Amino acid sequence: APVPSKTDKFSFGLWTVGWTGTDPFGGDSRPSLDPWEYSDKLAELGAWGITFHDDDVVAYDAPEEERRATFKKLKDAADKAGLVVEMVTTNTFSHPVFKDGGLTSNDRAVRRYGLRKVLRNVDLAAEMGAETFVMWGGREGAEYDSSKDLFAAHARYAEGLDTVAGYIKSQGYNLRIGLEPKPNEPRGDIFLPTIGHALALADSLEHGDIVGLNPEVGHEQMANLNYTHGLALALYRDKLFHIDLNGQRGLKYDQDLAFGHGDLMSAFFTVDLLVNGFPASPEATRYEGPIHFDYKPSRTEGMQGVWESARANMVGYLMLAEKARKFRQDPAVQDLMQKASIFELAQPTLDEGESVADFLAATEEFDADAKGAREYHFVQLQQLALEHLIG
Ligand code: GCO
Ligand code: MN
Ligand code: MN
Ligand code: MN
Repeated sequence: APVPSKTDKFSFGLWTVGWTGTDPFGGDSRPSLDPWEYSDKLAELGAWGITFHDDDVVAYDAPEEERRATFKKLKDAADKAGLVVEMVTTNTFSHPVFKDGGLTSNDRAVRRYGLRKVLRNVDLAAEMGAETFVMWGGREGAEYDSSKDLFAAHARYAEGLDTVAGYIKSQGYNLRIGLEPKPNEPRGDIFLPTIGHALALADSLEHGDIVGLNPEVGHEQMANLNYTHGLALALYRDKLFHIDLNGQRGLKYDQDLAFGHGDLMSAFFTVDLLVNGFPASPEATRYEGPIHFDYKPSRTEGMQGVWESARANMVGYLMLAEKARKFRQDPAVQDLMQKASIFELAQPTLDEGESVADFLAATEEFDADAKGAREYHFVQLQQLALEHLIG
């Protein structure tokens, strides 16, 4: 198996390996280690970076001095292990105060409290040298449509995001916000359920230029959507700031499986996009950011299983990357892509300078029946992908 190294830019949330197995039906199945124990071990396994929520590192109500000392200890450990703190995020979901949301709670005092917690973490993120500030609004949402003015909820979400983005700019921080969509869990319906919803709200903001996306594989799949298509739209809009890779099998609770342990073919084409780019659009924006894993070592695993599963994400990615490169380089694949007219899609539909009037007036030979009978060879191409993947 390939060996992960720092040049692969793999990073992990401390809450991933740090998940002790608590779920709605049972308590911890594993011990809790100190944050630097997780980071040291991740570095040893070949990771390049770490990420965390404030509350992954210090207790939610830790006194200021203890808070500062603990973050310093983690940063020193990360520096020593050669790890980058590439992203920081805020926990606005665990404490009951956030049960109706942080930025969109009906209770204004809760919103002011939540916004302060977020802004405090923006300072922390900058201090740690992070370049991305993720905002996953897990508790922003509702169970009942009777419970909210849904117009005001979106207005308050936008207000909160603009306040955070404006603050980042006013402080001169080198940070961009990555919104993380999710359709449900823990709320019955979470606001900004998909990449498309988040893009639409980001576009409406005064400071939207530094507000983009942190899409997670499983979350798009929980909405029955295609993750790779979502990444493509975000890239098209220059908004793919960060990614959360993991695995999900179908429409069920958020599984947070290791990357590749869910929909494998979809994972293959996600990696294909990340390592090879769009096939016919070489000038298109590429994702150059961290390969960040947001998974949960299943509750059945002990500490050995935690480290094996962390490694599984990285090795799985590297194996898929190797196969995706070979797939694209395969002359038979290139030939089929030609036959499938894939490169033709990058050609604008109108001629350069062609007006709509010219276009409508033009007479072109076109045989709809012949075109209706043409071959696209898509199945054959997909089969080649499968052969590269498992052959
Ligand atoms: C989930 C989410 C969260 C967020 C993380 C960042 O699984 O529902 O991925 O884990 O990514 O909390 O805020
Ligand atoms: Mn998830
Ligand atoms: Mn995530
Ligand atoms: Mn997660």
